[in-house]
This record gives sequence, structure tokens and C-alpha cells, in this order.
Amino acid sequence: MAHVFVTRDLPGTALDRLAAAGHDVDVWPDALPPSPEALREHGRTAEGLLCLLTERIDTTFLDLAPNLRAIANFAVGVDNIDLDACAARRIPVGNTPGVLTDATADLAFALLLAAARQLAPAHAAVARGAWGTWDPSGFLGADVHGATLGIVGWGRIGQAVARRASGFDMTVLHTRETALHDLLAASDFVSLHTPLTPQTHHLIDAAALAAMKETAILVNTARGPIVDQRALGDALRSGAIAGAALDVTDPEPPAPDDPLLSAPNLLVVPHIGSATRTARERMAAMAVDNLLAGLAGEPMPYPVG
Ligand code: DGY
Repeated sequence: MAHVFVTRDLPGTALDRLAAAGHDVDVWPDALPPSPEALREHGRTAEGLLCLLTERIDTTFLDLAPNLRAIANFAVGVDNIDLDACAARRIPVGNTPGVLTDATADLAFALLLAAARQLAPAHAAVARGAWGTWDPSGFLGADVHGATLGIVGWGRIGQAVARRASGFDMTVLHTRETALHDLLAASDFVSLHTPLTPQTHHLIDAAALAAMKETAILVNTARGPIVDQRALGDALRSGAIAGAALDVTDPEPPAPDDPLLSAPNLLVVPHIGSATRTARERMAAMAVDNLLAGLAGEPMPYPVG
């Protein structure tokens, strides 16, 4: 039996399997994540940890978690975990690849369509009773069919977005074949699908935004810090690009007075890329499978690296 800390309740029944396997399971009860102090406190006795992208698993935490034997991240992205520090301590880390690919690609395409066709301001106008008449000049958007989509990052999710784009007769460019600057300059829509690493931090900075077409729309369902958010706000205000649709920000959530939030032509949703019931229940099952294997001293079925 091992003591397991789970940093949030998860959808479905996967967590029940931890107790059924005889483990002593401590599930953080709140809707908001544990503070770093609370995380450290619970980590002191934990042998297994099932955490979310909201928790930073760094050396400070690991140094105070001497019994930790396995970490399962409830996400495919692992930028919240210091993997080198875990490796140095021989703590296996697992993640949840694959099961959220299509859900996230669907959301990227939903954001692209919503931003292109002004769905958020159009709905807001109807909701406030401002639908006066059929307006020949109202809510004019951009064509999605036949446009050029630049995909930054050609992994599972980037390729799934490309498959959706083919149904809209789009021309797809991607960074495995096309240099980033050329892709940015040629694309009507740019969608980000790289992991967050030191190399991709602020990959989309002021220079990158300046390389984009003035009519282009940026979509980010990857990680907020891939975009220099201040530069993005400036680009939207100056009209250097036409719009942005974000599922992720830096930080999450953004402060209410973050200047980005008052920028024009911006649509933001609260990191819901994988938020379908099926995807989240499968993620929970994979995270539990990883944790059970790690605690049993067996190879995790979905290991990182
Ligand atoms: C991930 O898995 O990395 C997503 O951002 C959340 O599901």
C-alpha cells in the first residue's frame, strides 16, 4: 500500500482504482489547485503523485518529497514538471498522449472558425438585443475555405488540425517543411501546436507577429508562454494582425487587468482543449494506469521520454 496524493478530483471512475488497489488516496478537495505550500505539505508523505498542469513539480517540491516513487501528470504537456530533476531522483513520470488529440484539434478549429467569422461579437450583439436587421456590412469576417493555414509544430495535434483543414480546402503549411518566418508571412491563419520548451518560449514574439499578414488570425491551443502576450496585445491594437483566438494564456488565468484582455479582435477560452467527457475520462484512466504501474515498480504504460 502506498500513500497517494491526487491534486484534484477527476471525471469518471478511474480514481476509484487507486483505492481498489489498496492505496491510501488523498484527493485535494477544492476546485482551485493546492497552493505551492499545500502541495509541498502533501508531498512530504506522498509515495505517488497524480498532478495537473497547474502544479509546478520542481526541485523545491521534490527535495521535500523524499518518499515519492511515481508521478502521473493528467496532461500530455509536461512543462510543469522538471523532468531532469525527476530523472536524477529516479522518479518515473507518465503523461496522457493521444487521447486528447482530436478533442484539442476540434477546439483549435472551433477557435479558428469563431475568430474568422466573428462568432463571439455576433452572439454578444444578439444577447444584448442589438440585432437590428440583416446588415449587408455587419460582422464581416474572413473566408476559411480556401485560405492558407500555417501549423507551427507537426506532432499529433498539428497533424489532426491539418486533417480538419483539408475538409475546408485549405492550403496547409507546417514547420517541418517550411521555415517559421516563411510560414508566418504566407498564412491567413497560424495555429500553434508545439510543446513549451526553452526553445519555444516566446517563439511568437513581436518580430514573428510583424512577419504575419495584417489580415491573419493567430490560434493558440498549445501553451500560453509560446506567445509573447504583451507583443500580441500590441499587435492586435496596432492592427499588425487581424485577430487572435486563445485557449491558453500566460499566466492562467490572466489577471483581470491584463492589457491583453482589452485588446480588440481577441477571443479567449479557459484552457478547454481536451475538455470533452471522453477525452478527460481517458486521460484519467491513463494517469491512473501510469501511477499504479510506477508504484508497483513496473514500467509506466505511457512514460514521458
Ligand atoms: C494537455 O494535456 O497538455 C492539455 O493542455 C490539457 O489537457
